[in-house]
Amino acid sequence: MGTSDAGRAAVADTEPGGPAEPPRDDLRVDGPTTCLRYATPDDAERLFELGRDPAVTRFFSWGPYREISEPLAYIDALAGKRERGELLEFVVDHAADGVVGVTGLSELSRRDRRATIGSWFGHRFWGSGVNRESKALVAHLAFETLGMDRLTAWANTRNGRSQTALERVGFRREGILAGWHRHGEQVHDVVVFGMLRAGWERSALRSVPVRVGGTPPPLFVVA
Ligand SMILES: CC(C)(COP(=O)(O)OP(=O)(O)OC[C@H]1O[C@@H](n2cnc3c(N)ncnc32)[C@H](O)[C@@H]1OP(=O)(O)O)[C@@H](O)C(=O)NCCC(=O)NCCS
Repeated sequence: MGTSDAGRAAVADTEPGGPAEPPRDDLRVDGPTTCLRYATPDDAERLFELGRDPAVTRFFSWGPYREISEPLAYIDALAGKRERGELLEFVVDHAADGVVGVTGLSELSRRDRRATIGSWFGHRFWGSGVNRESKALVAHLAFETLGMDRLTAWANTRNGRSQTALERVGFRREGILAGWHRHGEQVHDVVVFGMLRAGWERSALRSVPVRVGGTPPPLFVVA
């Protein structure tokens, strides 16, 4: 596990005899103190260290990590999921602190030009500002580069910290979805938050300087 290089420019599988697709530059999003980049197997140890903390994964369907093979398997699967339009996740790499967490987009709807944003950070980086900056980077990527019209975010009804953090950066609380997530045998109610393009344009996130480099996975480009 973890032997494929998930950080390499992704090359689409081709039919035998079909045309080879030229390699693409990896997508990367840079802000004032952090960058979003694709995880590589070299990041597994750090993700293991951050994600083995039960406080971090308390509201997730996975974790806490118990073995290094778990983050390695996660990283190994990312390139395929990007190419299939299933998941576009990044490590959040801080200039001084190194990798501090993970963020990105899932639940893509190309027709409706929307996706779901999700994030987790190592406990010692909560309240440090990396969440806000990373939200600015993902929002810029989604609305400006990929052509999305809406970002959705879920927060467990008991995850007050996540709810406050989302509202603080401009997400609007839209309601509660009962029995929305299943984690093993447990069913959870979630608060749904949304940010529309117009809301992003008015939000403080818009004032964060962002630079996007490389080529997005084609299925995530919706407009
Ligand atoms: C959720 C998460 C991404 C937010 O990032 P963060 O850096 O902790 O968020 P911020 O510090 O910017 O904002 C959180 C705010 O909630 C407040 N808060 C803390 N506990 C709270 C609670 N129980 N109820 C309401 N607000 C709470 C904090 O005081 C803080 O406000 P402040 O800046 O006035 O102190 C981060 O905590 C995390 O990675 N958590 C674990 C994974 C997770 O739950 N991800 C979200 C899944 S939906």
